[in-house]
Amino acid sequence: MTATICGTGSYIPSYTMDNHDIAGLVETSDEWIRERTGVVRRHIARDETTVSMAAEAARRALADAGTAPEEVDLILVSTISSNVVLPCAACEVQKELGAVNATCFDLSAACTGFVLAYNTAFAYLTSGVYRTALVIGSESLSNLTNWKDRGTCILFGDGAGAAVLRADAAKEPDDESEAGMAEELPGVGRKNYLPVTHSDGGKGAALTCKSRHDFNSLNGGSRQASNETMLDDTHYMQMDGQAVFKFAVKKVPEVIGEALVLNRMKPDEISYYILHQANKRIVEAVAKRLGEPMEKFPMNLQEYGNTSSASIPILLDEMNRDGRLKPGQKLVMAGFGAGLTWGAAIVEWRGCSG
Ligand code: UT7
Repeated sequence: MTATICGTGSYIPSYTMDNHDIAGLVETSDEWIRERTGVVRRHIARDETTVSMAAEAARRALADAGTAPEEVDLILVSTISSNVVLPCAACEVQKELGAVNATCFDLSAACTGFVLAYNTAFAYLTSGVYRTALVIGSESLSNLTNWKDRGTCILFGDGAGAAVLRADAAKEPDDESEAGMAEELPGVGRKNYLPVTHSDGGKGAALTCKSRHDFNSLNGGSRQASNETMLDDTHYMQMDGQAVFKFAVKKVPEVIGEALVLNRMKPDEISYYILHQANKRIVEAVAKRLGEPMEKFPMNLQEYGNTSSASIPILLDEMNRDGRLKPGQKLVMAGFGAGLTWGAAIVEWRGCSG
């Protein structure tokens, strides 16, 4: 049994804040932000919530895959910024979509979340537990951002991306006649690539956010946080930017290398490296360390900033829709962030039976 991404979708809030807007809030400049991060603007949820963006991205992915909501067996939402603690965002998305047959749960692993959610769905599908999964990354990071902290507020943005994964019947051709049909039969002749993932809880202090808000306007739009964290601002994201930067430029090329070795692949077999969109300099450093050309490292962080677990599926959806992705291409998705967590998954692009 193998599994394939059959459709993608994304939702981006229309309201934007550019670097000049940020420079009106904290002591920074457009030049500094562009040069040190690559970010030019970010989209901010105003009428949207993490759930509404996730549901819209999911609708678009289902339409792209030609899949009805009732066909979905599993909905996984990766988020650190869900509207409420309970119910989970995935159940709320299920309700919005009418995906009545799905089992739903959330996954919290910050900027590595989408890769881990993809791996989780992949494992369920390839082991035969489920047949169709919706994997979503959705974030309203603007609600967790301290707009007085220039070390973080320059970076983050809001949005959602989604992918539909479907199990395909066969992994290896069983006989010569089937081997001959490998191109026509989805799943036949395809390989199940194994991911590589790591965590280091000992370094968790590098990126923290100590309590949840209640973003739900049912509470009059008020943001709830404990008195203690309200006083010292630790209910917002706090980051040792340099520590996270150094971790990323070392660990991301390492984990991609591990995934290639594990799957007996060479870098030149990979068409694109779809990295979590955190900082242009991180992407460039990873490309350099892998010895791969920048053309293989698509970026859209200039438009959206860092959208945590939404960044990889948003980029994937853009590339799917503008025709950059072609059947049979091998892609690497690599995430890294709070926890600390990091990981890489190899994806063979599309081969669904329809
Ligand atoms: O999603 C995964 C998690 N996050 C990340 O991957 C983020 C990783 N880290 C980064 O992207 C970068 O560390 C930042 C963009 C956050 C910061 O860039 P940096 O090049 O590491 O800056 P820095 O903290 O080393 O600061 C360099 C200088 C300092 O001034 P001095 O001491 O050299 O005079 C800072 O005070 O830049 C100053 N600075 C700023 N200046 C203007 C720091 N932030 C700003 C700012 N605007 N926003």
